Amino acid sequence: MDCFEVTGGTRLEGRVRVTGAKNSALKLMAAALLATGRSTIDEVPDILDVTIMSEVLRRLGCEVSYDRVPGSGGGGRLSIDVPEKPSTETDYDLVRKMRASINVLGPLVARCGSARVALPGGDAIGSRGLDMHISGLERLGATIVSEHGFLIATAPRLTGASIWLDFPSVGATENLVMAAVLAQGTTVVDNAAREPEIVDLCRMLTAMGARIDGAGTSTITVEGVDTLSPVEYTTVPDRIVAGTWAIGAVMTRGDVVIERAVGDHLSVALDKLTDAGARIEVLPVGVRVAMDDRPRCVDVVTLPFPGFPTDLQPMAVALAAVSTGTALITENVFEGRFMFVNELVRLGADIRIDGHHAVVRGRERFSSAPVLASDIRAGAGLVLAGLCSDGVTEVQDAYHVDRGYPDFVEQLRGLGATIERTQRPD
Ligand code: UD1
Repeated sequence: MDCFEVTGGTRLEGRVRVTGAKNSALKLMAAALLATGRSTIDEVPDILDVTIMSEVLRRLGCEVSYDRVPGSGGGGRLSIDVPEKPSTETDYDLVRKMRASINVLGPLVARCGSARVALPGGDAIGSRGLDMHISGLERLGATIVSEHGFLIATAPRLTGASIWLDFPSVGATENLVMAAVLAQGTTVVDNAAREPEIVDLCRMLTAMGARIDGAGTSTITVEGVDTLSPVEYTTVPDRIVAGTWAIGAVMTRGDVVIERAVGDHLSVALDKLTDAGARIEVLPVGVRVAMDDRPRCVDVVTLPFPGFPTDLQPMAVALAAVSTGTALITENVFEGRFMFVNELVRLGADIRIDGHHAVVRGRERFSSAPVLASDIRAGAGLVLAGLCSDGVTEVQDAYHVDRGYPDFVEQLRGLGATIERTQRPD
């Protein structure tokens, strides 16, 4: 078992570079399927999820290669050579490792007329439905059945339609836009997700020849085209990794310049940190976050973009747990996202959960103990907590963090943290 051993008591200080967003790169990789030939994507993070998505694409018949760029903060250039006739099946052994594999469904059915993608099942942050992906593709004319653990979609040619999403789902918006770009006629996706990663995907699709209007707003209009061409494209910086370093700087009363962080992509989170007492400066190279005193508790409510990101909620809870006062943290996106809280309680945090609310009463510091990372962001939150503990905190199942944070240990060490990766018998 892979662990992080984090020694508490140091402040994060210095500069850290953020490479491209995991949640964008994975979808850009799926989008490459829409055109025959070689697409290249820059600033792709060197993380486990990208390795899994590369394997998904290889099994669909693509040639995929990756070159790391030194000094990029764990990023690199990914080349994807897509055959004229990709295969159309993605197995459970890959989908269960990474739910975002489901994002090949839209491009495959649009491009090949059929797709067979394993159903992902539940995960550590709660049940995650696919109903909006399915009903949206049906509106576009696909026939979808669920058999033997697979979703099987068929459509000789998709046809544009008006689609209303009950919730601005990131994954459903992406799948439907990737399907609509090759559909016949006009598609309008209403109540669409507005995340910067959606805008990034639409930019890449537009560079491939797609006709898309309204990306970044709640109404996305897609005029279908017959074919798309491969592209060279650069992934948007990872706002969740940037936000993690920002919260880490505040928790440890540090001073960090987060290179390539985009202030506008983090406005609510940075406002909350200002309320907590931090000094935030938006610089031409990124964002600087500095903190002198113990932070003050601030209430946080997670919401789809531009609201406070659910992916930063575990770090917000960890921050409140070492701040002065009491904070109410409300989770509105994933029902199971407070499951990691019991691990913070093992570190001495005072947290009560009531449904989708957490009441956090701040304490001076955490008390080090072995804890278990249950997902990417919970793991990162626990490591930040370890930095504010009175000894050595062992965060077990470190591989979860590797799914989302390139060079995690090296980046933290570069900021002055004392952290080791260790192995432990299971
Ligand atoms: C993406 C991100 C994830 C982030 C989340 C919300 C990736 C790889 N992951 O996940 O890190 O936390 O956006 O910002 O990009 N839902 C349904 N039916 C559907 C689709 C979604 O009920 O058809 C529900 C989900 O169960 C969840 C909520 O909608 O409760 C939000 O899900 P969604 O926005 O789709 O998140 P993901 O795309 O899975």
